[in-house]
Amino acid sequence: MIKKAEETHELTKEEIVSLLSCEIETENVVSHPLFEAADRVRKKYVGDEVHLRGLIEFSNYCKQNCLYCGFRRDNKNATRFRLSKDEIIKFAQDASEQGYKTVVLQSGEDPYFTADRMKEILSEIKKFDLAVTLSIGEKTFEEYKAYKEAGANRFLMRIETTDKALYLKLDPDMDWENRLKCLGELRELGYEVGTGCLVGLPEQTLESLADDILFFKEINADMIGIGPFIPNDNTPMKDEKGGTFEMALKVMAVTRLLLPDINIPATTAMETLNPNGRLIALQSGANVVMPNVTQGDYRKFYEIYPGKICVNDTPTKCRGCITGKINSIKRSVSTEYGFRKKTD
Ligand code: 5AD
Ligand code: FES
Repeated sequence: MIKKAEETHELTKEEIVSLLSCEIETENVVSHPLFEAADRVRKKYVGDEVHLRGLIEFSNYCKQNCLYCGFRRDNKNATRFRLSKDEIIKFAQDASEQGYKTVVLQSGEDPYFTADRMKEILSEIKKFDLAVTLSIGEKTFEEYKAYKEAGANRFLMRIETTDKALYLKLDPDMDWENRLKCLGELRELGYEVGTGCLVGLPEQTLESLADDILFFKEINADMIGIGPFIPNDNTPMKDEKGGTFEMALKVMAVTRLLLPDINIPATTAMETLNPNGRLIALQSGANVVMPNVTQGDYRKFYEIYPGKICVNDTPTKCRGCITGKINSIKRSVSTEYGFRKKTD
């Protein structure tokens, strides 16, 4: 099956389920044939360069109430913050000066940041020779259009799960169909579109994870971010079990086999569960890392899940640290924007 996936980039749902159920030896994870195959496909299609995206976490206010997320509006224990327009622009400028070619502006769904405010920020940031990715949730077509016209290039919005019943339970007041519609509108507007899922949600089955991977292929996503669900004490899901590093890695590796030329980040949540998580992910299909370029104390308050890495570090420290790690596995940091180079 691994051979078939490596050669044809096609698998049936049943085949995906059986790959996801394979045993992983925790001692030497990367030598598993699934991860070795994903690593070869990564090398063949997207090469040895790793794209760094500088992440600016600019607001943790959120009007939504997703049961798993620390930003949920009912979490009264969260210290809420919003960066000023000038701070956001400054962090982007500093990131550009450090060599980043992309910044990702991420926040909760914060109505304070209207389309007009976002447009002002985007047009300033675009002066720094940066590709800009937005990760700010569900908006209207007109809003997406306004950000695009102001220079946004990419948009990240995970579908979280393709199991609609589970989505309905975990994301109250939200509408799965609307999320799908948003992803379609972003594509129509010419964004590079990133999505992804959480791994290890309660009641989530291997069948459902297989559906997620087939969904990524069906919508021809340009980027896929996959992370384990990590229970947050300040949410109703605090006593749930959470996902494992190994399962998130398997979902990520199968995604690489089936979508060979896309961008796949080694996610921060993976490193939270395994001190070597990002390097292992980079050797199992991933080709992107998103180091934090937010400055000051804000990082601490951006607590989607507990145990997030680098909360006491600076952008300079993270840049040096991750470059060293990437070089240690004989890979290099890209100096390009890192858009998807489609092979079909
Ligand atoms: N654990 C891990 N990831 C989470 N996210 C939200 N809550 C959690 C959690 N408890 C992820 C969602 C969202 C992204 C920004 O963070 O997938 O899309
Ligand atoms: Fe932040 Fe290593 S990436 S300290």
